[in-house]
Amino acid sequence: MIGSARAVAGPNIALIKYWGNRGDPALRLAANGSISITLDSLWTEVQVTFDESLRADSLRVNDQAADAARLARTHGFLQTIRRFASLECYASVESRTNFPIGAGIASSAAAFAAMAMAAGHAAGLQLELSELSRLARLGSGSACRSIFGGYVEWIAGASDQTSQAEPLFPPNHWELVDLIVLIDEVHKPVGSTEGHALASTSPLQPARLADASRRLDACRRAIRQRDFAALAQVVELDSNMMHAVMLTSTPPLIYWQPATLSVIDRVVRLRQDGAAVCYTIDAGPTVHCLCAPQDADSVSSALAQLKGVQRVLRASPGEGARLVDGAA
Ligand code: PMV
Repeated sequence: MIGSARAVAGPNIALIKYWGNRGDPALRLAANGSISITLDSLWTEVQVTFDESLRADSLRVNDQAADAARLARTHGFLQTIRRFASLECYASVESRTNFPIGAGIASSAAAFAAMAMAAGHAAGLQLELSELSRLARLGSGSACRSIFGGYVEWIAGASDQTSQAEPLFPPNHWELVDLIVLIDEVHKPVGSTEGHALASTSPLQPARLADASRRLDACRRAIRQRDFAALAQVVELDSNMMHAVMLTSTPPLIYWQPATLSVIDRVVRLRQDGAAVCYTIDAGPTVHCLCAPQDADSVSSALAQLKGVQRVLRASPGEGARLVDGAA
C-alpha cells in the first residue's frame, strides 16, 4: 500500500448561486462568483487508499458498489491526483454519508471536498487549503466551497489557478438555521454537470451574470451586518434568477415540484407574519429555508405539514473539510 487517508466534509447551501461555466467545462470555471454556507449536521466521509495491488479504481458508497457513471467521475478525479503526485497505482474509495444523495443537498460538494482532502493526503501531496479548494472544484464546482467552514465565497477567477474559494466569516459569526425541506420526487432531475452546459442557451443568463457582482456585494454586506431582511431579499432574488435561467434554457430544466411552490408560498407568508425566514433552491425540488434560530421550530412544523413534503432536516453553519482518524 502506498498511502491511505480519511476525510470528512459537509455539503453547502449557496446563497448566491454558481450556474454555468466558462471555457473548458472539465475545468469547472464558474461563469460567476458564489457565496455559500457550509453545513454542520450533514456529512460525507471518504477514505482513499492507493494500493499497487489494485487492478482498477473502485468506489463504494454507503457499502454498495457505485454505478458506472459515479465510478467514471471518481476515476477522472483520481487521474488528476495521480498526475499531480506522479503516482501510477489505482485507489479504492469508500464513501459514507448521513443524508440522501441527489436530493438537492449538494451531495457531490461534500463528497469531492472530502475526496480531495483524503486523496491528496493519501497520495503524499502537501496541499494548502486554497490548493485543495481548486482540486475539489475539478470534481464538482461547488465542492471548492466545502473545503472551508462557515460563510464562504468562491472567487470565479479567470483560470484554473485563480478559481478557488476563500472563507468569508467563521461558522459562529451568524448562527442561522437551514431547514432542508425534502420533497417527493416524481422525475429524475438532470444533474448539475449537464445543467451548467445548458445555462448559456438561456437568453436570461447574460442578464443574470451582468448583475452578479451587485448581488455578491449585497450578500456579503447582509452577512457582515447580520441583516436578515437584506439577506432574504438577495438570496431569494438570486435563487429565482437561477431558476429563471433553468426554465428558459433549451431544453428547459424544471426542477420544481408542486410542493416546491407550496413551500415558497408558505415561507413568504410566514415572513409577512413576522418570522425571519427565506427560501433558496438548488438543482432539485428540495427547498432550503434559512431562518433565525428562534423561528426554526415553528417554521419547521408549519412546512412539515404541507402536502408533498417528506421531511425537514436541520443544519447550521459548520466546519470545513478535515482529516479524521484513520489517516495513514
Ligand atoms: O457543483 P455543482 O456542479 O453540483 O453545481 C452546483 C449548482 C448549484 O447547487 C445549483 C448552485 C451552487 O452554487 O451550489
